[in-house]
Amino acid sequence: MADSGFTSSTRAVPAASGVPRHIAIIMDGNGRWAKKRFMPRVAGHSRGVDTVRATIRSCMDRGVEYLTLFAFSSENWRRPADEVSFLMQLFIKSLQKEVDRLHENGIRFRVIGDVSRFDRKLVDVIHAAEALTAGNTRFNLTIAANYGGRWDILQAVSKVLAKHPGEEVPVTEEALEAELSMSFAPEPDLFIRTGGEQRISNFLLWQLAYTELHFTDTLWPDFNAKALGRAIESYQGRERRFGRTSDQVKDAASAGRHA
Ligand code: IPE
Ligand code: IPE
Ligand code: MG
Repeated sequence: MADSGFTSSTRAVPAASGVPRHIAIIMDGNGRWAKKRFMPRVAGHSRGVDTVRATIRSCMDRGVEYLTLFAFSSENWRRPADEVSFLMQLFIKSLQKEVDRLHENGIRFRVIGDVSRFDRKLVDVIHAAEALTAGNTRFNLTIAANYGGRWDILQAVSKVLAKHPGEEVPVTEEALEAELSMSFAPEPDLFIRTGGEQRISNFLLWQLAYTELHFTDTLWPDFNAKALGRAIESYQGRERRFGRTSDQVKDAASAGRHA
């Protein structure tokens, strides 16, 4: 993947101050948003769906190509059963309600994560939405559900090894990247976590190696176009060096401009 022309790969220097091609977000703070309003935690999840809709629109308006949202981690099964069940129902309801609109807007929808643990009904709705939107190319919306970065790396290694049964194969970065669940996308340029925590919580561990990180105290239901704009501005003010020196990056950028 890394050498196949993705500008955001860790091996290429992307255009300075450009729009991030791929934004990955940990949507955190729904429960606290609700608690502050003396509402049940799940009311925050419902409001969070509105933020998802608005964020997709803002990203499309700004020319972002890939948006990846962490909706349910492999660790979130540890939550109270009624909250987990509410989240699953909300996922089904929201997807059923929105899938036609996603399709009309040229959005390709995908889910990454181990969906085998979900109810049949949810798996069917996910597969139907993926199939309906499979030909769309305008925008890529990916939901990480029952996703864990460690799970992703392990399943990829297993697939690489399974291709060569009984042989001793070197597991290369390229071979592994081809089996990761986001092999279809460039690595995220910008990672955003709402809700104030400054951690990755087992999100895209492999793919975030050189991603620019942005943490905001804004709770997910309050995250809006302005907050997204602030994250993108912060991204555009950074110099992505990928191990090189600042002078090397500047030389490469001016050579690119004059080429
Ligand atoms: C994020 O909000 C949504 C999910 C993890 C599903 P939280 O539910 O984690 O909200 P807080 O962190 O408790 O406020
Ligand atoms: C991370 O949020 C997962 C999602 C947003 C889906 P959590 O609220 O579960 O993260 P931790 O447990 O506080 O790290
Ligand atoms: Mg949380």
